[in-house]
Amino acid sequence: MSDRVLIFDTTLRDGEQSPGCSMNTAEKLEVAQALVELGVDIIEAGFPIASPGDFEAVQEIARKFGDRATICGLARSRDEDIDRAWNALKDAARKRIHVFLATSSIHRQYKLKMDKPEILRRAVEAVKRARGYCEDVEFSPEDAARTEHDFLAEVVEKAIAAGATTVNIPDTVGYATPRQYFEAISYLKQNVPNISQAVISVHCHDDLGLAVANSLAGVEAGARQIECTINGLGERAGNAALEEVVMALRTRQDYYGLSTGIQTKKLCGISRLVSTITGMLVQRNKAIVGQNAFAHESGVHQHGMLQERTTYEIMRPEDVGYTGTNLVLGKHSGRHAFRDRLAQLGYTLDDAAFEQAFKELTALADKKKDIYDADIIALVAKPVPEPDDVWKLVSLHTSAGTGSIPTATIGLKHGDAEEVRIDAATGDGPIDAAFNALERVTGITAKLQNFQVRSLTMGKEAQGEVLVEIAVKGVIHHGKGISTDIIEASAQAYLKALNRADRAATAVPPVNPKDEGNP
Ligand code: KIV
Ligand code: ZN
Repeated sequence: MSDRVLIFDTTLRDGEQSPGCSMNTAEKLEVAQALVELGVDIIEAGFPIASPGDFEAVQEIARKFGDRATICGLARSRDEDIDRAWNALKDAARKRIHVFLATSSIHRQYKLKMDKPEILRRAVEAVKRARGYCEDVEFSPEDAARTEHDFLAEVVEKAIAAGATTVNIPDTVGYATPRQYFEAISYLKQNVPNISQAVISVHCHDDLGLAVANSLAGVEAGARQIECTINGLGERAGNAALEEVVMALRTRQDYYGLSTGIQTKKLCGISRLVSTITGMLVQRNKAIVGQNAFAHESGVHQHGMLQERTTYEIMRPEDVGYTGTNLVLGKHSGRHAFRDRLAQLGYTLDDAAFEQAFKELTALADKKKDIYDADIIALVAKPVPEPDDVWKLVSLHTSAGTGSIPTATIGLKHGDAEEVRIDAATGDGPIDAAFNALERVTGITAKLQNFQVRSLTMGKEAQGEVLVEIAVKGVIHHGKGISTDIIEASAQAYLKALNRADRAATAVPPVNPKDEGNP
């Protein structure tokens, strides 16, 4: 058995399905580029039948990156899904069609209303159709972890015989325990006669917080592909976090004896990118990529660390690209120091982008004395207005104080129009007033579901990062803003989320692959 574990990233498909995390094509391309540089083996770029936007994103990713990673598209076990996936993928040098069909008794009885022979027939037909197009075909018996072992083995055997080159064993609802999952994979290894003709893959959801543990248990039982997402993004509680499975295999190489092709120094960078694009905050104490993942606060720990790093540190922060809160630049730092620091942080900017970032750095240094790594990252990775952000912030003025009514006046531009649309509103405080004014100008009514503000670095002058989650007609949208002024950061974040809502209102409603699997 190979000692190389394939990393199959599904941030752009299962991750993107998580509420409020939808990305446009430009954003997906940016994430795909980062995934390629990270060294993932397979990128599940989307579900082409879901919407024209999904199709276009998979097609562009296939065309642009299909020679550097295998690009995969998801399809239900239906002819039209498989044909659409193929059309999106066909220009890639390395491509994979991923077909799925639920197999558990609950799904058979209530969702598909099919008996076992019917499931077997449809699965085989779907794999054969996909193989007619493509040599690399993955089959997933959805809800495999709750499927009877003997039936699961039969489906897997028939799928391999029909041409599946990877068989994925999803714990779709995050129900399995590590031991059970280990036993399910072991059962397949022992009871599927042709199992050696396919790679076994694990795909675990985190409803009980066991996605990473289950994935590793599956690998111990013989799986050689892990399906995972950056920051553990995904439906409900999410999928197994890529950074965690990869670092577990690497840090405990002594135990697993396995390796991946991941450039681990890029893990923190891609985590920040995905958080910025989706507006989904990474919790401070998140393993590997959280802001506190390498912070030692207790005196006993600090003392131990000073004597010998390995007393309390099992990984080197630099191995995952962790930057901490280093003080790096000041008002008088020049272009050279800035370029150097950017390179150390893993950013290469073209000349125009570098000059723009340097101009912003100088402006920032006027507002705050000390510039930290986190400031630099915020500067180059900050959410910039995208071409399809139809509303752009032009001006913001707020007034608030004890005994006065907080008010905000907002000026926005719409599309290419020169005219600035201005309106004002009051609120409970200046931020609430700014949000109300934004709604008045855009004409979008939203419900604020979550609002978080945190300081990116230390000190009173630190930049504030604001994340908002809004609901518009029951659909969740995220937005993120960064500024030394938290009212401005809040307005940027809210406007970002409103822009996403605006876009969603005009888009074709997507098909959720879990809504109906009935071919
Ligand atoms: O969780 C799941 O079962 C899935 C399948 C489509 C593989 O995401
Ligand atoms: Zn899933």
